[in-house]
Amino acid sequence: MLRVKDLESGYGPMQVLWKPSLQTKKGAITSLLGPNGVGKSTFLSTVFGSVKPWGGSIYYEEKDVTYMPTHKKVEMGLALVPEGKHLFPEMNVYENLVMGAYVKKASRHREESLALVYSLFPVLKERSGQLAGSLSGGEQQMVTVGRALMTKPQLIMLDEPSQGLAPLLVQEVFRTIQKMKEEIGLTVLLIEQNADASLSAADFVYIMHEGRIKAKGSPEEIKGSPEIREAYLGI
Ligand SMILES: Nc1ncnc2c1ncn2[C@@H]1O[C@H](COP(=O)(O)OP(=O)(O)OP(=O)(O)O)[C@@H](O)[C@H]1O
Ligand SMILES: [Mg+2]
Repeated sequence: MLRVKDLESGYGPMQVLWKPSLQTKKGAITSLLGPNGVGKSTFLSTVFGSVKPWGGSIYYEEKDVTYMPTHKKVEMGLALVPEGKHLFPEMNVYENLVMGAYVKKASRHREESLALVYSLFPVLKERSGQLAGSLSGGEQQMVTVGRALMTKPQLIMLDEPSQGLAPLLVQEVFRTIQKMKEEIGLTVLLIEQNADASLSAADFVYIMHEGRIKAKGSPEEIKGSPEIREAYLGI
C-alpha cells in the first residue's frame, strides 16, 4: 500500500533520514519504533510531504507520490495525526471534527464520516457542543484522531497517539487503533516510543535508530531477539 525506499531528508544542512525503507500492508498495523530524536516524526512528515524529500522514493497504491503535494496525498486517502494535539480550543468538538472534512471528496461524505467517528468515540457525540479546549487529554486525543478520520483515509499515520496519557487511556487508545483496523479496515502506520504497547498492537514492526532502519520483523521476532531488545529498545 505504502512503499518507502531509501528515503532521505532533513532540516537545513542537517540530514535526519539516512535511507530508511518501509512498507505497510493493507489492513494491517505497521509500527515504527525508536527512542527520542531518531527521526520518526521526520519520516512521517516526509512521507506526508510537509518536509521535502532529498532522495529516495515514496509509492502509494503503486503510484509514485514522492514529490506530490500534501493536499493531493490527502485526496488519495492518506492522513496524518501529528504529535501533540493541534485542536482549535475555542471551537467545539463538532466544529473541530468537520474541519477535517475540508477536502472535496471527504466533504461529500461528511455526515457518514461523522457517524463513524461518533460510533468509534461515543463520548465525542455526548460532548459535541463542548469547547475542545475544555476536554480531558484523552478526549482531545480522540478528537485529533477523529478529525483525521473525517478525511476518509485508507491509510492513517499516527504519531505517538499515546503520548502523555495515563496507562488506562493508553490502553484505550490502542483498543481504538485495533478497532479502526478491524471495523473500518484501515491501514495503520503507528509511530511509538512505548515498545511494550507497540509490540502488542502491531502486525509488523520496524525499529529506527539514527535515521536508519536497524531491525524489522513480526512482534514475536522482535520480542524473541535479546540482541535487538537490548541494543535498541532497552527492554
Ligand atoms: N523543524 C525542525 N527543524 C530542525 N530540526 C528538527 C526539526 N524537527 C526535528 N528536528 C530534528 O531532527 C531530529 C529528528 O527529530 P524527530 O522529531 O524526527 O525525532 P523523533 O524520532 O520523532 O523523536 P521523538 O520520539 O522525541 O518525537 C532531531 O535531532 C530534531 O531535533
Ligand atoms: Mg516524534
